[in-house]
Amino acid sequence: MNERLTVRQIQEKKRRKEKIVVLTAYDYPLASLLDRCAVDIILVGDSLANVVLGLDSTTQVGMTEMLHHAKAVRRAVRRALLVGDMPFEAYQKSPEKSVENARRFVEEAGCDAVKLEWFARCPQVARDIIRAGIPVMGHVGLTPQTAEQLGGFKTQGKDAGSARKILQNALTLQKQGCFSVVLECIPTPLAAMITQRLSVPTIGIGAGAGCDGQVLVTYDLLGLFDRFTPKFVKRYARLDKAILDGVGRFCADVRKGKFPDEQHSYAMAPEEFKKLKGK
Ligand code: KIV
Repeated sequence: MNERLTVRQIQEKKRRKEKIVVLTAYDYPLASLLDRCAVDIILVGDSLANVVLGLDSTTQVGMTEMLHHAKAVRRAVRRALLVGDMPFEAYQKSPEKSVENARRFVEEAGCDAVKLEWFARCPQVARDIIRAGIPVMGHVGLTPQTAEQLGGFKTQGKDAGSARKILQNALTLQKQGCFSVVLECIPTPLAAMITQRLSVPTIGIGAGAGCDGQVLVTYDLLGLFDRFTPKFVKRYARLDKAILDGVGRFCADVRKGKFPDEQHSYAMAPEEFKKLKGK
């Protein structure tokens, strides 16, 4: 299928019990490969901060960086639903600006939807954006933008009280009209329970196999980011090794004068070269 997936088609997958595949992308070449693999949702995540820009926190990227990368991804994506991740500054600092920023993801970068991490005023912000006609994906559990307030990068909802709050947050976001909800770093039984209680799809990351879909940061699964590796990451490829090997051989060839050879160089008609030298 080459047509662009819609929010409704993503939601139908839950009803049909078809798992939803979600991955992150930040640039044209990677997004193009993910789309060719028939990934259902491509998320331009604010994980851009860590895995691409080498920053320590996702709160360090803003609208300028997110839109720049979302536009590159849009040029590559033909089939997947494209979701832009609202950075911290887009709605947490000034919730009143959230609709305007969500609109920029759609109008300037061509995204189909935006994602919002849970925070105190998240339900109102989600509702306002949805009322403006922009589909919203919620995000509860471990929310990296406010991880400090949650005691750091730790599994959330391990006791009944905090688990109940996460379930409540997910239900609230569904009530406000979110079309799906990301569940990050929560125990498997809690994620399975939330998945059963919600009619919209749940997308898990470190939330076990009971979710309606799964998301990972693509650079993690491809072996392109090694500053830290959460327990929930599985490496499906070692592109770091492939790159070190390829670049290492290029360096050696250049240093030995073996590259470029004739096959990778341009010839010039000898008489033309003679004329050139004669001048
Ligand atoms: O920014 C991101 O990549 C994310 C996913 C990990 C869900 O929010």
